Amino acid sequence: MTDLSGRYLGLDLPHPVMVGASPMVDDLGLVRRLEDAGAAAIVMRSLFEEEVEAEQEMSARVREEPADSFAEALSYLPEAAATVFGPDEYLEQVRRVGEAVDIPVVASLNGTRSGRWLDWASKLGQAGAAALELNVYRPVTAMDTTAERVEAEVVRMVEEVVGRTTLPIAVKLSPFYTAFAAFAHRVEVAGAAGLVLFNRFFQPEVDPDTGDVRRSLPLSHRGELPLRLRWLAILSGRFRGSLAATGGVHDGFGVVQACLCGAHAVQVVSPLLRHGPEHLATILAEVSSWLEEHEIAGLDEVRGALSLERCPDPAAYERVNYVRLLHRFDVEEPIFRETGR
Ligand SMILES: Cc1cc2nc3c(=O)[nH]c(=O)nc-3n(C[C@H](O)[C@H](O)[C@H](O)COP(=O)(O)O)c2cc1C
Repeated sequence: MTDLSGRYLGLDLPHPVMVGASPMVDDLGLVRRLEDAGAAAIVMRSLFEEEVEAEQEMSARVREEPADSFAEALSYLPEAAATVFGPDEYLEQVRRVGEAVDIPVVASLNGTRSGRWLDWASKLGQAGAAALELNVYRPVTAMDTTAERVEAEVVRMVEEVVGRTTLPIAVKLSPFYTAFAAFAHRVEVAGAAGLVLFNRFFQPEVDPDTGDVRRSLPLSHRGELPLRLRWLAILSGRFRGSLAATGGVHDGFGVVQACLCGAHAVQVVSPLLRHGPEHLATILAEVSSWLEEHEIAGLDEVRGALSLERCPDPAAYERVNYVRLLHRFDVEEPIFRETGR
């Protein structure tokens, strides 16, 4: 028997594979199937800053203005708040999901700025969440917004959430920070108990024929995992909190790769949306088989073994490796031979 157990955000998990934030939590039947398939924990879809602020604005107007202005107040809801769960319904859904399963339920707040909307963090704890993911999804387009300002705003947000709840906080970030290791350290000092690497920015599709710019939400592919592996490996042992991978883990091998690079938890969404919740059991079986094949008794034995600090060739994570690769023209696919060496 292999031991896959470990700790993530202070929670004892039987293994690292959890269900990442997604609409799968909308359906309690699906949530139970995910638990039956062996999920170690489940992350709620996000409650968005825009939704909470719209609700707060509406409540303030209803308090200040006569009852017949309620309909008018509704019209102030921004488009983004046309939503599956309003903030109160979201709390109710956290409660329902928590009652439906025995595994930890991680709530998710998604926004870009500190402010009163973060009051919701404490309500999520009262609703039964075991931890909170704070997703900072912020494509910065303003020409006068500097990296320093963006980072400072995230840090302030983390401090505010930490001040409002006793739940452990994991911050889900994009990889697009110039000096990611230093930034991760600032987020840790601000009180984050963990990082979730990485948010995917959904890139718009540009259609030259129609001139349309379309929003799209493609499922992930395996090629997205190495970016996560690299940063897990760089932070492992140096970021003192928990590390989770999200993005491009599609099988047990991907879970093993993430753990070897230092992940305490591995979140999956796309493979479950593609193949159904029961696919989680397949992924778990693959992790166990890999450990058995390599005669490793427990995941903790090898967690972080391929990190920057511990791996036999740390240069693989650094610039020197990039230079070496380009010099050798080391592409992995057949290429037009005359250009190769
Ligand atoms: C349909 C869909 C909805 C999602 N909703 C959320 C969300 O509400 N909050 C969030 O933090 N991430 C959300 N995500 C991102 C996933 O949690 C995850 O980070 C991403 O899909 C990468 O993991 P994967 O490769 O396992 O799909 C969503 C992803 C999909 C495909």
